[in-house]
Amino acid sequence: METDGRPNGQKWEVSTTAVHGGEARQKDAHALPDPIVCASTYSFVNTQAVIDFIEQNQDRGEYGRYGNPNEKTVERKLAALEGAEKGLLFSSGMSALVCLLMAKLNSGDEVVFFDECYHRSREFCTKHMSRFGVTTHQVRTGDFAAMEQAINSRTKMLISESPTNPHLSVIDLEAFVSLGKKHGVETLIDATLATPYNLRPIEFGVDYVLHSATKYLAGHHDLLAGVLLGTNDQMADVENLRGILGCINSPHNCYLLQRGLKSFELRMERHNENGMRIAEFLNQHPKVRRVYYPGLADHPGHELARKTMRGYGGLVTFELHDEDWQAAARVVDACQIFRIAPSLGGVESLIEQPLVMSYFTQTPENRQKFGISDSMIRIAAGIENSADLLADLEQALAQA
Ligand SMILES: Cc1ncc(COP(=O)(O)O)c(C=O)c1O
Repeated sequence: METDGRPNGQKWEVSTTAVHGGEARQKDAHALPDPIVCASTYSFVNTQAVIDFIEQNQDRGEYGRYGNPNEKTVERKLAALEGAEKGLLFSSGMSALVCLLMAKLNSGDEVVFFDECYHRSREFCTKHMSRFGVTTHQVRTGDFAAMEQAINSRTKMLISESPTNPHLSVIDLEAFVSLGKKHGVETLIDATLATPYNLRPIEFGVDYVLHSATKYLAGHHDLLAGVLLGTNDQMADVENLRGILGCINSPHNCYLLQRGLKSFELRMERHNENGMRIAEFLNQHPKVRRVYYPGLADHPGHELARKTMRGYGGLVTFELHDEDWQAAARVVDACQIFRIAPSLGGVESLIEQPLVMSYFTQTPENRQKFGISDSMIRIAAGIENSADLLADLEQALAQA
C-alpha cells in the first residue's frame, strides 16, 4: 500500500505527519478520510487464500480481535509521530501497560519504578503483578542512586513517567537510559503528559514509550485509547498477547482518534501556551503557596525540561497557603469554565483536587508518602482563550 508516511525518506514536521502520516494516499470509494471498516471478521476467496495468508504472513484482515484497518492506520501515524518503528494501539493507556508487563515479565522477575506516577499504574504493579510472582520496587522519583541500588540480576524493566503526574517532575532520560544499558535492563517511559510534540524519548534510547492516547493524542475527552511504541522485534510478543486478550480499539474509536490527531500540533501549541500562562499567573498569586510546572524557572526540573522539551504541556499543579482541604474545594467549586473531572489533554479545561478525585479512600500516611497534600489542585488546561481562563481562576481563588 502506498502511504503518506514519510515517503522516499523525506522528513515531515509534526503537523504534516499528524495530518498525513500513516494514511493511504488513495482510499476505498475514493474518500479523502479513511472509511470506518466495521468488521469482526474478514473473508477469504478460497482455501488457498487462507493458506497464502498463513504461510506468507500477509498484511490483511483476519479476525477483529487481532486488529482492524482503522487501527493499523492510526498505529502507523503514531509511530511516525514518535519516530518509532512500530506502534500498537490498545483500548486504554492502562491496557497498554498491562499488556506490555504481562508479555515481558515472568514469575521471579522484578521491576523498579519512580514513585511519582499515575496511581493505577502503581496499583497494577504492586497489587496484581505481585500475584504472578513479579516484585516491584518503588524509589523516589529522580533518585538514580536508589534506582541503581534496587537493580539486581532479576530486574527486567525500569519504569518512569516524564513529566510525572501530578507533580510534573522531569526525568533525566540520558541518565535513565544509561542506567538501563549499564545493567542490561529495558526502559519504559510513560510520556502521556509530554506527548511526542513536547518530548521524544526514543531519541534518547528509551526502549518503550507509552501514552494514554485518551489524553492529548485524542484530545477531545470522547474516547479511551493507549499506545505503546518500540521496535518491531520488541512489539511482536506484545502484539501476540494483545490478540489473545482482545484489548484493542473499535474501528469507530480509531476513526475518532485519527480525526483528533489531525489538529494535534495546533492543540499542543495552545495547551503549552495556556499551561505556561496559568502557571505564571498562579506563581505570583498571593493565595498560592507552590506551583508545579516545568516551564517555570524556579521548578527543579526546569533546566532539563528547557533542554529536552519543546513545550511544557497543559498540566499545572498547585497548592494553596490555606492547608484546609475545603479551601481548595471552594476554589474548584467556584470555577465557571474549568470543569470538575479527572483526565487531561482534551480541548476543555479541567480542574480537580487529587486528594478527593484519586486519593480520597487512602490513609493520610499514604497520601503523604505520594506527595498528595490537602490543598493540592490539578489543572489540565484546554485550548480556550487564556485570558478567559485566568479570569475564571482569579474569581475562583477569591473563594479560598
Ligand atoms: C500518566 C498516565 N498514564 C496512564 C494513564 C492511563 O490511561 P487510560 O486512562 O487511557 O487507561 C493515565 C490516566 O490518567 C495517566 O495520567
